[in-house]
Amino acid sequence: MYTVKTLNNIAQVGLSRLPADRFVIDADASAPDAILVRSADMRGMALNDELLCIARAGAGTNNIPVDRCSEKGVVVFNTPGANANAVKELVLCALMLSGRRVLEGIEWLRDEKKAGTMDLGMAAEGAKNAFAGPELMGRTLGVIGLGAIGAMVARAASLGLGMKVLGYDPFLARHIDASVRRVKTLERLLEDSDYVTLHLPLTDGTRGMISFDQMSRMKTGVIVLNFARGALVNNKAMIEALETGRVASYVTDFPDDEITGVNGVVALPHLGACTPEAEDNCAAMAASQLGDYLLHGIIRNSVNLPECVFEKSPKPCITVLGSAGSVDPGLITEIAASQGCGPGNLIQASRDDWIYAVLECKSAPSQECMERLRLVQGISRIRVIT
Ligand code: MLT
Repeated sequence: MYTVKTLNNIAQVGLSRLPADRFVIDADASAPDAILVRSADMRGMALNDELLCIARAGAGTNNIPVDRCSEKGVVVFNTPGANANAVKELVLCALMLSGRRVLEGIEWLRDEKKAGTMDLGMAAEGAKNAFAGPELMGRTLGVIGLGAIGAMVARAASLGLGMKVLGYDPFLARHIDASVRRVKTLERLLEDSDYVTLHLPLTDGTRGMISFDQMSRMKTGVIVLNFARGALVNNKAMIEALETGRVASYVTDFPDDEITGVNGVVALPHLGACTPEAEDNCAAMAASQLGDYLLHGIIRNSVNLPECVFEKSPKPCITVLGSAGSVDPGLITEIAASQGCGPGNLIQASRDDWIYAVLECKSAPSQECMERLRLVQGISRIRVIT
């Protein structure tokens, strides 16, 4: 049996992917084999020695201590694309709300009602021009990051709203859509966009990337949308840009004490993935990936260790995770052969300094065989899957 600890509410459709005869789901487990998490901050958490994997029901993994996990050979999974449609829809909503000054109009009307203004219909007709805002069609949207969400936003803005779309993503080699014009530099995108939307992960390399310098390159009156992570934007630079009018409005799904309430900021309580569909999709994908790893050794959508997707045979297998420079899968096969477990197919995958190997065997390896294998230099995890 494997123990899976849940750190957040995980949709039942996901939990039901972990059959009760193989998994115990326990929110209070002290030594879990796996963790299912949504937004709980795990960065200060100790990682127990039994822990084999963490599955995040969502795209970002900045709430997980990924480097520490890698050091311990703990696989971290995310669910790319599973909530992309939910986020895309909210970005489209934000584009429309911010450009057309809808929120100011709603707020004005609410205040008038509170103040006891008579004949609000008439008052609205008199005031409405103060809330006029430009149409989106023909305006330029700059999409930073063209992964699952960015690509969907770009397509919808171009094909559905008639916007000109510029896309910037230095890590994406493939062509995404004829309606998105790729630009080679971030600066170019910022200089040419009326709206800028962020769709990239928060890493050491992207933290604070929308800085004073980047802000100074944007068009005056630009609208910035952040449905990726708050820390991508330097708050101080954003506040200054809002004060000078360089940025007309900043819509962020990541409220914090510094930015919330600043004039021109529309802060939402992290609603991007808050749809029942996205919660189900993320939970199902996260739980399936976790189950596939524990039961079959398959690694799909890992953010830190080698991707290794294969058709699991009913035979037992030995999985080995270790340092690519020192672990020789040939040696693993040799030892397994010398110990009489009839090694067969060897599947290998690597990533950065890691190697992952799955060795199918005719019979389950003996304890002695496993003891000998554990002595091989550079192995960080070795498991038998029957
Ligand atoms: C994500 O990273 O995909 C979102 O933060 C998901 C969520 O809201 O939990």
